[in-house]
Amino acid sequence: MTRPRFSRKPALVRLLSVAALFSIILIAIQSSFFTGSRAPVNLDIPILSHFQSNLQQCVANRGLGLTAHIIDHCSVILKFPQGTNSTWYNEQFKIFEPLEYKYDVCEAILLWEQYRNMTTVLTREYLDSRPDGWFDYAAKRIAQLGADKCYNQTLCEEHLNLTLPAKPPFHPRQFRRCAVVGNSGDLLKTQFGEEIDSHDAVIRDNEAPVNERYAKHVGLKRDFRLVVRGAAGNMIKILNGSDDEVLIIKSVIHRDFNAMIKKIRNPVYLFQGIVLRRGAKGTGMKSIELALSMCDIVDIYGFTVDPGYTEWTRYFSTPRKGHNPLQGRAYYQLLECLGVIRIHSPMRAKRKQDWSDVPSREMINNAHRAALHLKEKQAGQEGGLGRFVNCKVWGKSGPYGTGPVSGSTDMTDTRKESNYNRWEIMPFESLREEARKHYMQMEGVSLYKMDGNKLDDLVCVKHPLKSEA
Ligand SMILES: *[C@@H]1O[C@H](CO)[C@@H](O)[C@H](O)[C@H]1NC(C)=O
Ligand SMILES: *[C@@H]1O[C@H](CO)[C@@H](O)[C@H](O)[C@H]1NC(C)=O
Ligand SMILES: *[C@@H]1O[C@H](CO)[C@@H](O)[C@H](O)[C@H]1NC(C)=O
Ligand SMILES: *[C@@H]1O[C@H](CO)[C@@H](O)[C@H](O)[C@H]1NC(C)=O
Ligand SMILES: *[C@@H]1O[C@H](CO)[C@@H](O)[C@H](O)[C@H]1NC(C)=O
Repeated sequence: MTRPRFSRKPALVRLLSVAALFSIILIAIQSSFFTGSRAPVNLDIPILSHFQSNLQQCVANRGLGLTAHIIDHCSVILKFPQGTNSTWYNEQFKIFEPLEYKYDVCEAILLWEQYRNMTTVLTREYLDSRPDGWFDYAAKRIAQLGADKCYNQTLCEEHLNLTLPAKPPFHPRQFRRCAVVGNSGDLLKTQFGEEIDSHDAVIRDNEAPVNERYAKHVGLKRDFRLVVRGAAGNMIKILNGSDDEVLIIKSVIHRDFNAMIKKIRNPVYLFQGIVLRRGAKGTGMKSIELALSMCDIVDIYGFTVDPGYTEWTRYFSTPRKGHNPLQGRAYYQLLECLGVIRIHSPMRAKRKQDWSDVPSREMINNAHRAALHLKEKQAGQEGGLGRFVNCKVWGKSGPYGTGPVSGSTDMTDTRKESNYNRWEIMPFESLREEARKHYMQMEGVSLYKMDGNKLDDLVCVKHPLKSEA
């Protein structure tokens, strides 16, 4: 196998692509001039095509053998090299997993850029705003309720109250750089510990241990941990008195969880977001969604993204059977070249600080605008309604930073000392400037995804600004 060749001339590539875009614009302007058309020139497709060629170059430079094949201004196919060994055999369909994957880049930009403005934690205001939020939706988040609806809301509140803040505890743009740390055995081949700890927030997964033994590989900083029910039993041991690490339950609340929560001080919330089955499967995507909803830059460590995997390893235990690795690997590469994540792994360690071939924020914003415009045109709703166009349901809540704070009067003595205040009544002035700006631009509106598979439907909850209160 030949080693992937990394471009050493990113500046030149960028210069050429800027020149290419410029000449496209020039041609477009000229042609409209000659046809005498007064309508504004439609640059959506040239902008997206330009973005696609940048994506292609990025995949060629960073994909460790993956290549991108452009179909049109939105579609692209990511291919593994011929001869890549597909180790995952699908018994049901009697096939090996394919070596190529098709993506709609326009849709992917719209989806992932939207996460930057989303609230991804379940709140009381969400359940109150959504029609049948308590009756229908809350019931789906409780295991062992014994019913598929909340026929008795008090009972449902009893299950959920320990994990349900009144308003969003976290905000878009709250942190600049976040590290999302997966559990791959790959982490033992590198010493990313210090680098991981240098982030503004670190997001970990399930039972990942954090201690001196693994410190040089995975760091010691602990801020957020996404957990599933299966991890509840071990959580007290894993947390080992780290009281401020916020737990975010990925799936459903359960009696086991509630029993455990009473014995720890950590703030605990439930994840809120659609059940995503696009692109890569697995737990990594939820961590990335959570990270994007709070952080400008998302660095990922310990995800199985490099070629050459034959088994699904974890840094702290024996291998488990995992899921289709090639599909996920291609999707992570797409996300990196869409500017959503930055991948760190043994095979990429040498060039970790060179991001010149990943599209710039400005370029992503242009591509996002073009993709949105195209979509609106296709739906016959050009002009839209600005940033609240997808708000299908509106709700109202109290002003920023006002109570009540999570918890209830009948909490255990341990639980009473939980540090919920740190997040829930943080003064507006101590939020990062970018987060404050965003909050004002959004007029104090929090956006939540509706559950289900419709990409665009949002629940929007308005918090009065100080001047309106
Ligand atoms: C794929 O597997 C075969 C048989 O196990 C091996 O001979 C070959 O070298 C592998 N190819 C690559 C690219 O790893
Ligand atoms: C609803 O649930 C609460 C708490 O478990 C219980 O005390 C109450 O009796 C229930 N109400 C009805 C009508 O079943
Ligand atoms: C749940 O918490 C809310 C807000 O603190 C409170 O009003 C409600 O009475 C609680 N419900 C139960 C069943 O404890
Ligand atoms: C738990 O934390 C204590 C103090 O921080 C440390 O000394 C101990 O080694 C930790 N135990 C484990 C199992 O990590
Ligand atoms: C996200 O928020 C910014 C303001 O910070 C706004 O300009 C932009 O239109 C929003 N994008 C989406 C997709 O909601």
